[in-house]
Amino acid sequence: MITLTVNDTAYELDLDPRTSLLDALRDHLALTGTKKGCDHGQCGACTVLVNSRRINSCLTLAVMHEGDAVTTIEGVGTPEALHPMQASFLDHDGFQCGYCTPGQIISALGMLDEFRSGWPSHVSESLEGEPELSNEEISERMSGNICRCSAYPNIVDAIRRARD
Ligand code: FES
Repeated sequence: MITLTVNDTAYELDLDPRTSLLDALRDHLALTGTKKGCDHGQCGACTVLVNSRRINSCLTLAVMHEGDAVTTIEGVGTPEALHPMQASFLDHDGFQCGYCTPGQIISALGMLDEFRSGWPSHVSESLEGEPELSNEEISERMSGNICRCSAYPNIVDAIRRARD
C-alpha cells in the first residue's frame, strides 16, 4: 500500500510495485489527462510535475513517489478559470489533434520554473543579458515534448505569450 499525493489529494493505493506512475494515474486514479504515447520516455505525452520538476511518468515507478507532490493537467486551472498557460494554448492555437497538449502544458510550466531558478545552468549561461526566453530557447527547453502534428511554431508562441 502506498500513499500517492496527486493534485493536493492523498490517495491510498494497493499497487503492483512494477506499476509506472503513468499507469497509476491513468488506470488506478482515472486521471486520464496524462497521456500515454510511447511508454518509453521518447514523446513527453506523459509529462507530470513531481515536486515542481517535470518528469516522464512512464519512466518511473509509482512506489518511488510516496511523499512526493504530483501535479497532473487535472490540477492546473479549472474549467471556469483556465491557467494562463492553458488560455494561451487556446488563444494561439498551440495544438492540432490535442493528444500531446496536456504534456506540453505541464512541461511548459515546469520549464518556466526551471528557467526562473536558473536550471539547468548550462542553458542559463547562454541567457546572460537576455532576460526573456527566445523562441529558440523555448524550443530547446521543450525538445522532450513531441507533437506529431508539428504544431511547434504555435506551441512556442503560446508559451512565450503566456508570460506577457
Ligand atoms: Fe512517456 Fe512517451 S509516454 S515519454
